[in-house]
Order: sequence, then structure tokens, then C-alpha cells
Amino acid sequence: MTKTHKSSKIANMQMAYGATGLLVGTIDEAEVFIDIGVKNIAFPYPIANKENIKRVMKLTEKARVILSFDGIEAAKMWNEELAKENKELEYFLLINSGLDRLGVKPEDSVILAKDLCQLKNLTLLGISTHPGHVYGVSSSEEVALIAKQEVETMRHAKELLLTAGFSIKVVATGSTPTFSHVVDSDVFDVLRPGNYPFYDNIQLSLGTCKEEDCTFTVLGTIISKPRNDIFIIDVGSKCLGLDKGAHGNSLVTGFGKVKGHSGLQIISLSEEVGKIKIDGETMLKVGDRIEIIPNHACPSANLTSYVFGYQGDEVVDIISIDARGNSMRPIISDADEQ
Ligand SMILES: Cc1ncc(COP(=O)(O)O)c(C=O)c1O
Repeated sequence: MTKTHKSSKIANMQMAYGATGLLVGTIDEAEVFIDIGVKNIAFPYPIANKENIKRVMKLTEKARVILSFDGIEAAKMWNEELAKENKELEYFLLINSGLDRLGVKPEDSVILAKDLCQLKNLTLLGISTHPGHVYGVSSSEEVALIAKQEVETMRHAKELLLTAGFSIKVVATGSTPTFSHVVDSDVFDVLRPGNYPFYDNIQLSLGTCKEEDCTFTVLGTIISKPRNDIFIIDVGSKCLGLDKGAHGNSLVTGFGKVKGHSGLQIISLSEEVGKIKIDGETMLKVGDRIEIIPNHACPSANLTSYVFGYQGDEVVDIISIDARGNSMRPIISDADEQ
């Protein structure tokens, strides 16, 4: 899942390490990654307006594009457009494994599959889910329980659909915290974690990773010490984001983790500066630099155009975050083309 990095460099690395395709977060990502040669792209949610359907239709000329549906309405819109061009596309039927966002419960999957199979230009490829409610738990034991629920829900949905006579070629899921728990399960054919290239403070709090695994950090400078127990830094919400996780993580306090300085807590962020509470002694002073692990790396990466790749203290690469929203400027008049 590429919504974390939105970068063709990292997408290329994922493909080089053996990914057979990419699950994208947006059409922008799909356009950029197909341009660099990725041939297998899936969308995780229904695309349900004519403009976007047109954009994705164009992509089907260059890559295998897999859609996702959890209802009949968007699927009908697609079927109509596909019929006009005499094309067929595959799709995942979305299953709700507990997040209660997109997807149907396994018990409702057969009725939906029966409705969808009336649409002759769409072919059921399999079922998929995202157990995002894992971000709301408060211990690694609970992560394991969510992973178990993820496996059992998808096993149940697959069995019901097979019994009803549907072919389920692919069962897909994806979340970074549950990945290690489900990787050996015989249910899943495709795993689509997204956050793992970077990790972040939320993953740390869930026990998914260690501090040294967090590759995405924000480098800040201490610009003022107005009180003995306060630093001001030149990093604010426009770098770190105010995010504490999409699905309510109560384990995270503050607005990021200062690497290697457990006594420092980022207690507030303005847009361009932040405030740190100093607990105990510190050798740090105005002018010193600190490295901050964002609470949630995905929106932080989305706030920048490029990141520096470090090996030790040496900058070895500059990586563009080139698949962010609006990375393809639309052409609406001749003047725009010049
Ligand atoms: C449908 C879907 N699949 C996979 C992922 C990746 O999950 P994670 O960010 O936990 O790695 C997400 C994340 O939002 C998602 O929405």
C-alpha cells in the first residue's frame, strides 16, 4: 500500500524487493506509479464519479487495474462505462473485518456478490479487507486478537462465497501492526501493509517496531529556551502534523517522539514552531538539532516535497514525494498547456 510514501523511488524499491503489484491510496499515486512501469495496480475503495472513472479508465490501457466495491451503485457506474468501451475489469469485494468503514460483513457478502455478478463487465477477483481498528487498541495482546479476527473473518467470507459457487482467486488484507501475525496464515494470498517503510510513533506505541526501525524523522533545531523547562523548536504542525492516528490511539502522548531524549515531550505545535517540555536534566541547548519521529508518518510525508536519505550522518539521496495529491496538473485550457 503506497499511501504512506507516495514516492516512485520507494515504489520501485518495493517492486525490486518482490511486490507483485501496488495498492494505491489515490488516483494520483496510480498515475505516477504506472508511469514508472508498475503493471498491477489496485484501488482500495470504490471510485464513484465520472471524472475519476475516466481517469482510471485511461490507466487500464497501460496496466492491470483492480477495483474495489462494497455496494452496487458505484459498480453500476463502472459497468456502464466499461460496456461503452467493451472492456472488463476485475474487482475485490470489500469485507468489513471490524473497522466498520468500508465493506460488508461476511454474512452479507453472498447477496452482494450475487448482485454484482449481474454486471457483465465486472469480474470478481476476490475479497479484501483492512483491519484499521487495530490502531485503536492499547496493547500488543490486543493487536494479536485483531489479527485473529482478521484471519477468521476473511476465512468465513471466503468459505461462504465458495459454497455459494463464486470463484475467489485472491484473499487480500493489509495493516502494518497485524502483518507479522497474519503473514503465515493460509487464508491470505496478498498482504498490503503500507506504513512499514517508515514506521512511526504510533507503531512504536503498539509494539510493531523499535525506535531504530523508524526511518522517517523530522530534523529540527532548538531555537529558544524561554524557561528552564521549555525549548522552542523550528518544527510545527506543517511538518509533523497534529495527527494522533486515524482510528483513535490513546497510547500516544504529545506530538512526536524526540529520538534519544526520553525526557523531552513535544507538548504543543503551532504551524511553524513547536514547544517542548523538559523533564529532568538535558545537555541540549539553543542551536542543537533534534530528530523527531512523527506520531503518524503518513500525513507527515504528505506535507513535504522531498526527504533526505541518510546513511549515518551522510546524505546519500534526496527522495521526491512525487505522487502526492495534484501531482498531475490538470489541463483546462490552451493557456494551461503553455
Ligand atoms: C485498504 C487499506 N489497505 C492497507 C492499508 C495499510 O495499512 P497500514 O497503514 O496499517 O500499513 C490501509 C491503510 O490505511 C488501507 O486503508
